[in-house]
Amino acid sequence: MSEKWLTATVLENRHWTESLFSLRVEAPKLRFDAGQFVRIALDIDGQRVARAFSFVNPPADPVLEFYGVVVPEGPLSPRLAKLRTGDALHVAANPAGFLVLSELPDAQTLWLISTGTGLAPFLSILRTEVPWKRFRNVVLVHAVRYAKELTYRELITGTGAKYITFVSRESAPGSLAGRIPAAIADGRLEAAAGIALKPETSHVMLCGNPQMLKDATAALVARGMRKHRRRAPGHITVESFW
Ligand SMILES: Cc1cc2nc3c(=O)[nH]c(=O)nc-3n(C[C@H](O)[C@H](O)[C@H](O)COP(=O)(O)OP(=O)(O)OC[C@H]3O[C@@H](n4cnc5c(N)ncnc54)[C@H](O)[C@@H]3O)c2cc1C
Ligand SMILES: NC(=O)c1ccc[n+]([C@@H]2O[C@H](COP(=O)([O-])OP(=O)(O)OC[C@H]3O[C@@H](n4cnc5c(N)ncnc54)[C@H](OP(=O)(O)O)[C@@H]3O)[C@@H](O)[C@H]2O)c1
Repeated sequence: MSEKWLTATVLENRHWTESLFSLRVEAPKLRFDAGQFVRIALDIDGQRVARAFSFVNPPADPVLEFYGVVVPEGPLSPRLAKLRTGDALHVAANPAGFLVLSELPDAQTLWLISTGTGLAPFLSILRTEVPWKRFRNVVLVHAVRYAKELTYRELITGTGAKYITFVSRESAPGSLAGRIPAAIADGRLEAAAGIALKPETSHVMLCGNPQMLKDATAALVARGMRKHRRRAPGHITVESFW
């Protein structure tokens, strides 16, 4: 069956850095859960080129928002970055994805751990009421190469989540150095949060770079955690961006 496409219009394309951008678009109402994604597309040389993008906006917000990075050799992202107010793009009619709180078992602490644009689905989740009703602590972790890539800071601090940042390629006051998996393994992440990262109390959602997901999962497994499945509840839920 061919995919059903809706036509959307760009309201704003905010450029945070030369490679990071946020598109706010007007589109027919879509039903989705915070943490899900949808395919968005442009017609390039007569071909519809579509890629998955996570919603940044909470479901109740009628303006859709997507957070992207320019992958210079990529077919779609450089073109999305160049869109201007009034330009059209296509949005698929069927949001999807399992990085949603309704799939999670109860826990005391919800850890939302991201690299790069993997932050996007957690911004949507943080702006719903659910995490604040279901969890005693909510920790948002964002790892980037350079400090200028720590986007959406005001929004995040405004949610009340405990906010921990990593900057890996320069020294940045207030941010941890290095990578997330090493900081899980050596205890720096839980020390920074002031909250224990252990299976008895924690559920961890991971999103972004697939190698980070793999390495962080291994570090969590070493702490006694396991992947969450509907039929075998666990502590780790992941979404890979490529
Ligand atoms: C479920 C899901 C949700 C996604 N949500 C987002 C999102 O919210 N924001 C977003 O920017 N991307 C997201 N992506 C990735 C997105 O679909 C595209 O792959 C990306 O925009 C690049 O598209 P492209 O056509 O330019 O290059 P592609 O041909 O799609 O990718 C080329 C290469 O670029 C690298 N790459 C792809 N995406 C990223 C990224 N986000 N950060 C760093 N390197 C990357 C990988 O090495 C990949 O092999 C998501 C992917 C999936 C599967
Ligand atoms: N056009 C431009 O000017 C420009 C600028 C920036 C990025 N880009 C493009 O965007 C893409 C990269 O985007 P990005 O920087 O958002 O994503 P990224 O490469 O995934 O890096 C984001 C963070 O994840 C970390 N990371 C990478 N692998 C990891 C692992 N195995 N375990 C734990 N952490 C890991 C990185 O640390 P490390 O630093 O240690 O790797 C960094 O802190 C590339 O395709 C690049 O070409 C383009």
